[in-house]
Amino acid sequence: MSTQSPPTWITICDTCKREGWDDASGATDGERLAALVEEAARGRPVRTRRVSCLMGCQQGCNVAVQAAGKLNYTLGRFEVSEEAAQGIVDWAVLHGESASGQVPYRTWPQAVKGHFVTRHPPLPDAE
Ligand code: FES
Repeated sequence: MSTQSPPTWITICDTCKREGWDDASGATDGERLAALVEEAARGRPVRTRRVSCLMGCQQGCNVAVQAAGKLNYTLGRFEVSEEAAQGIVDWAVLHGESASGQVPYRTWPQAVKGHFVTRHPPLPDAE
């Protein structure tokens, strides 16, 4: 990632609960996925944060991948797994390396395929 580039952030919903969530588990599915994403992101050129609810509750677990001036995305329907967390981080790193935020499909980690929910074009520059 160029030092000129705005950082790519992974925002993880920490209140997502997938169907069948066991409230005796002591943590939401979102909290468990967030911990795995944070671990996978350690030492990588991406930043992470947690928020409570991205308004996609019916298709959790949800994350957003964003950077200023780039295409921004929400991804959902993730199970809590190291594979999912690694795929999210790997894709976010590619997003960070892309000038536009568009990542060539051929480079996508398998774990993110089928998980894209929305894409938001960057806002126009303020006039
Ligand atoms: S609880 Fe995760 S999107 Fe609403």
